[in-house]
Amino acid sequence: MENTEILKLTIQDDGVAIIEIHRPEARNALNLALRQALAKAFEQLNINDQVRCIVLTGGEKVFAAGADVKDFTTATTAQMYLRHTEQYWQSITDCSKPIIAAVNGYALGGGCELAMHADIIIAGQSAKFGQPEVKLGLMPGAGGTQRLLRAIGKFKTMHLVLSGKFIAAEEANQMGLVSEVVADENTIAHALELAKTIASFSPIAVQQIKEVTNLGQDLSLDGALALERKAFQILFDTKDQKEGVNAFFEKRTANYTGE
Ligand code: CAA
Repeated sequence: MENTEILKLTIQDDGVAIIEIHRPEARNALNLALRQALAKAFEQLNINDQVRCIVLTGGEKVFAAGADVKDFTTATTAQMYLRHTEQYWQSITDCSKPIIAAVNGYALGGGCELAMHADIIIAGQSAKFGQPEVKLGLMPGAGGTQRLLRAIGKFKTMHLVLSGKFIAAEEANQMGLVSEVVADENTIAHALELAKTIASFSPIAVQQIKEVTNLGQDLSLDGALALERKAFQILFDTKDQKEGVNAFFEKRTANYTGE
């Protein structure tokens, strides 16, 4: 597993992988090198059978202050198009393992969008979220308008993307942008504990839950319910499903092998 100066990767024995962004001098701003490193990390972790859940963090102080604005000073439309940065975001979207974002400090612009690529967001109480691109004569470009819309609805989304204002973790929690708020010093530990629990479950069940929940958002209710039903039925053909039910009746901890 590749460790770089800007991205630290750790795989623990409990099946939890930790990706830590480390560009403190630029408040973890997402330059091209960081986006490429993130994409590569998610691609590698996705095909590593040892890994069952991923915690994504920017460390104790800041999650990510957005795209690296220095990249924007002279960029032209053609250059921005030809960067095709959507491919790097897609590697995160395509990750079948659950992702928990552990957010301390700022998650702004592309940083907020990065957090929204996760499946669960644990925020420290002092975390701040926002889409301030409008203040730069820009707009969100990595899912900010659309992922927010699906998470918190039109009027809260418009308020955030049109004002560019930052909101505190508790307000984000009430809106539905955050899963849980904890004390700042517990953010990463809490995310790791949750990841350990998820990693102890059947990876097939966990990945089916992630896939169906994410896909279902944009389907008709009937289509989404059928998808859910089929995924539920498929699980009956796994050893893990039998192990889970047997362990329940035998009053012991299930040992899931991913078969
Ligand atoms: N890009 C590049 N550098 C950044 C940066 C960013 N997004 N955010 C912070 N930095 C740099 C600053 O330029 C500064 O560098 P120097 O020390 O060389 O001057 C350093 O990080 C520290 O920044 P501050 O002194 O501003 O630190 P602060 O703690 O007072 O403020 C902050 C932190 C509120 C995050 C503030 O830096 C800020 O507002 N940053 C910009 C946030 C922003 O506009 N993000 C959206 C970017 S556009 C985008 O993300 C598009 C998209 O959707 C893909």
